[in-house]
Amino acid sequence: MDLDMVIQTSFSFCFFNLVFHGFSHLFDSKQISMKIAIEGCMHGDLDNVYSTLLHLQQVENTKIDLLICCGDFQAVRNEKDLESLSVPPKYRAMNSFWKYYSGEKIAPFPTIFIGGNHEASNYLWELYYGGWAAPNIYFLGFAGVVKFGGIRIGGLSGIYKYRDYRSGHYERPPYNNSDIKSVYHVREYDVHKLMQIEEPVDIFVSHDWPLGITDHGNWKNLVREKPYFEKEIEDRTLGSKAGAELLEKIKPPYWFSAHLHCKFAAVVQHGDDEGRITKFLALDKCIPRRKFLQIIEVESGDGPYEIEYDEEWLAITRRFNSVFPLTAKPANFGGVQLGMEECREWVKSKLESRGTKPFEFVRTVPCHNPSQTVANNYPGHIRNPQTEGLLEFLELPYVLDQSHSPASAISRGPANYDSEDGPTDDVDEIQLPQEEEDDD
Ligand SMILES: *[C@@H]1O[C@H](CO)[C@@H](O)[C@H](O)[C@H]1NC(C)=O
Repeated sequence: MDLDMVIQTSFSFCFFNLVFHGFSHLFDSKQISMKIAIEGCMHGDLDNVYSTLLHLQQVENTKIDLLICCGDFQAVRNEKDLESLSVPPKYRAMNSFWKYYSGEKIAPFPTIFIGGNHEASNYLWELYYGGWAAPNIYFLGFAGVVKFGGIRIGGLSGIYKYRDYRSGHYERPPYNNSDIKSVYHVREYDVHKLMQIEEPVDIFVSHDWPLGITDHGNWKNLVREKPYFEKEIEDRTLGSKAGAELLEKIKPPYWFSAHLHCKFAAVVQHGDDEGRITKFLALDKCIPRRKFLQIIEVESGDGPYEIEYDEEWLAITRRFNSVFPLTAKPANFGGVQLGMEECREWVKSKLESRGTKPFEFVRTVPCHNPSQTVANNYPGHIRNPQTEGLLEFLELPYVLDQSHSPASAISRGPANYDSEDGPTDDVDEIQLPQEEEDDD
């Protein structure tokens, strides 16, 4: 890929699109702001995205404080991780994440990402609750909320598929042909946890778009660019039902998505007493002449600009871990909401004594070495010390390596699911082969 082209073309929309939004509920007296770069699908192309941002900083004489990536990050550490990545064979490549994992390169910006439908799912499962995927690169978790310089950032990984929505997280690496695809389908359990959030979230990120978001923007333009979306918009199958529920509940000032490989903006007026609105923006993937980057400027605290654990989210995590569904059976939420306040107080005092910094990055598998094949004889699931640390801190048991019992894998939700499955669930399978033509 021609880097100059990436840089030039990202400019044409990057800085001329600067949005300012004050989070007035957070900071009354000071007017300090941070610049956040938002990126669509990463597809393992960290080198190019970081170079673009570094160049942008230089020519605009500015400072970017954070990068948020909306999924398809492809945190592939070595060849073995490629086995857990669901992509057509010709896209099964190491790309550049491994350099940041091995320490050969350091991410020049704090980076936060969610998962999409092309991920090293075995690695993301190690970090189910969120954690450092590489130094300075933080995975938000299958669902999660963190703080950064006083801003609250929430996200949901994966894409929505009705068929798997109510299932538990039964998939374990090494994945078979069916599990490698279902593992990234959004689960009710994670959405339900996010639905418990009562305090304002400033930025929310999902890989696929919230269902119905096209009603709030210029969908006619979108359809002109992507004619095959028209039927899905009409049928109301374009996007995630879970995303729509979360948008309605959380009403964040900003919501960013990716997945459909185009740029689309919308403004949702929530019609509540506070007159809240959500500015929605979907971005493209990182290739020349595509709109994959957006810089926003937001009011912030005076720092430090570091990722911190979020108290409310940890309380939700602790409260709901007892009903974490580890088989195909749906979660049973009966009674878990009770005692939330007490749990919150408990987490608060724990955080006061420990501090809010996430547990430190730890490498758990051999690094990729382009000149030799990595020994791949480590087990399918590895307990990541960051996850163990967080669970110990929350006084919760480690359950991610519990294998599901085959007997419980019978009921996977209603049988008549096919009518609700929209074709864009597998949009990348449809689109990926066309992308190279698109670029010419
Ligand atoms: C894959 O594994 C799951 C259990 O995780 C099992 O239910 C399913 O039948 C397997 N599918 C195939 C195609 O082997």
